[in-house]
Amino acid sequence: MCGIISYIGKQDALQILIKGLKCVEYRGYDSAGIAIGDEQHPFRIERSVGYIENLIKHVSPLGLKGHVGIGHTRWATHGGIFEKNAHPHVSNDKKFILVHNGVIENYAALKATLLKTGVKFYSDTDTEVLVNLIAQYYQQLEQLPTSQRFEESVRKSLAEVQGTYGIVVICTDCPNELIGVRKSSPLVLGINPDGLFLGSDVGAFSGHIENVVYLSDHEMVHIKGMDYQITDLMNGSVTSPSLETIDREQNTADLGDFPNYAKKEIFEQGTALGNMYLGRFSSDGSSAHLGGLQITPYELRQVERILLLGCGSSLYASKIGASLIETYARIPVDVEYASEFCYRNAPLNKNTLVFVVSQSGETLDTLNALREVKRKGFPTLAITNVVGSTIAREAGCGIYLHLGMEVGVAATKSFTGQVGMLALLALYLGRMRDMSFTDGRQFVQALQSLPQKVDEVLALCDKPMQKLAKTYVDYQHCFFIGRQMLYPVAIEGALKLKELSYMHAEAYPAGELKHGALALIDPSVLTIVLATNEEVMGKNISNMMEIKARHGKVIAIGLEGCEIPQKAYDEVIYLPKVYPALLPIITVLPLQLFAYYLASERKCNVDKPRNLAKSVTVE
Ligand code: M6R
Repeated sequence: MCGIISYIGKQDALQILIKGLKCVEYRGYDSAGIAIGDEQHPFRIERSVGYIENLIKHVSPLGLKGHVGIGHTRWATHGGIFEKNAHPHVSNDKKFILVHNGVIENYAALKATLLKTGVKFYSDTDTEVLVNLIAQYYQQLEQLPTSQRFEESVRKSLAEVQGTYGIVVICTDCPNELIGVRKSSPLVLGINPDGLFLGSDVGAFSGHIENVVYLSDHEMVHIKGMDYQITDLMNGSVTSPSLETIDREQNTADLGDFPNYAKKEIFEQGTALGNMYLGRFSSDGSSAHLGGLQITPYELRQVERILLLGCGSSLYASKIGASLIETYARIPVDVEYASEFCYRNAPLNKNTLVFVVSQSGETLDTLNALREVKRKGFPTLAITNVVGSTIAREAGCGIYLHLGMEVGVAATKSFTGQVGMLALLALYLGRMRDMSFTDGRQFVQALQSLPQKVDEVLALCDKPMQKLAKTYVDYQHCFFIGRQMLYPVAIEGALKLKELSYMHAEAYPAGELKHGALALIDPSVLTIVLATNEEVMGKNISNMMEIKARHGKVIAIGLEGCEIPQKAYDEVIYLPKVYPALLPIITVLPLQLFAYYLASERKCNVDKPRNLAKSVTVE
């Protein structure tokens, strides 16, 4: 988490930093800060608690000048949300200014040593330890020329650090230089004829540049004016950068007429799915065309088991994907929390194919799981939305979702996109096994009609969900229940409600409620029952009746043509019938709308829910 942007070049740094910070604000918004200066202007550090807007108000009257600058937007790890903990941090001797994304795990030991040498600390952060460590090495290396001394101080300090970092450092003795280093926290170098940028992702400098270098772990970039050199952090050997051209369109996200990204991203799901499926159906219309897989059909036929790894909504999408693959391709699929997988030494069968699923492609838990699987020698593939992200690059091959940038912290279009892509994968694998040509054709036709269906369902549910959100705005507890593939949809619905509206929500397989949680049902508790799966309609209705018998409130999400008795619910909305594999996507839409409107009623910040960040790059 935390967003970084830095600039060195011909333009004034201030506007570039502010614009860049807004673009990476989704990575954390507890506080923000900048440091600006150059050879003519002494560096100044300004910081504010809260959103970037607060920083803008604070710096606007100050007339900060300089062509060199670093900026940071914080998601708090070490130390509370106070100005003293906001980045950039400065060394006691004021020579070094640093922004950091990541966690220095051995900061306490390093701090204890620095304290003994008289270093004073003004924040509770791990970052302030690092900036002072660099300053201390700098004092010791006075025999070296200044620029080299700067570089060596950073190198030697980081050799002592355990943990993760994407950092950018200013040394006031070299005012026209910046050093950036990455280890497990992303850092990208952006290049244009007017200047050089370092950012947490390419979005940080979107609009300014077309060429980028994605730094790899343990790489250090030393920028001197308009030149840069990338070296190995450990041994200083020079590495040749691989320059990539980015698609400017891919990295911009305009709100258009929408009031916020959450609503925009909910309502653009149909279009996003349409874009995702472009060129991805086989020419005979009975299967998928997934070029990125880079695995031959023969190799795919040898696969005996699939493992899907992810976190949060990506994990829930994977759970649905697992059911789809098992149903249509008859391959057993396991789904694991990436964060748990890394540390439990799970036995993996040979001929297991592993997919990591991540919207951002930067989630550290998922990245670590990917690395663990690779270490064990298994083929890994990624399903990600962000082109060039760390997971996409380290997995080597996989599938891009091409859904367009998702800015809202709550996953919406990425969730339906991941499910839609896993459905396509189920079709592809199914057609290599027992799925017939005609069944494949039917599946393809269903997927082709999905974008339009999504638009229809959003239009159908919009007003009713808005109304229901007003009715239930003061409720404190909500259950979501569902069976089969709708159980993971229930989990996703509960997560959306929690993160957007801060209402307590829990999800259960519908049959499980009676095994304990039914004790909590009373008139003050709302239960949303996902009852769009026809084959278990009778069971769903029984569960609703059990809740109504205890005077709980029930909103039923039903299916057209499958009437639910009135006494089983307080409110009902019927969704149109779709191909069974698409039910999870259709059913999650009213839940997203409910969470969105309830959060809006509660005046929550729907794009930046409290305590969260879009890209979770800490463990
Ligand atoms: O970028 P990723 O898909 O790897 O992110 C995983 C989770 O952090 C993410 O889905 C999170 O749960 C969302 N806030 C859910 O809305």
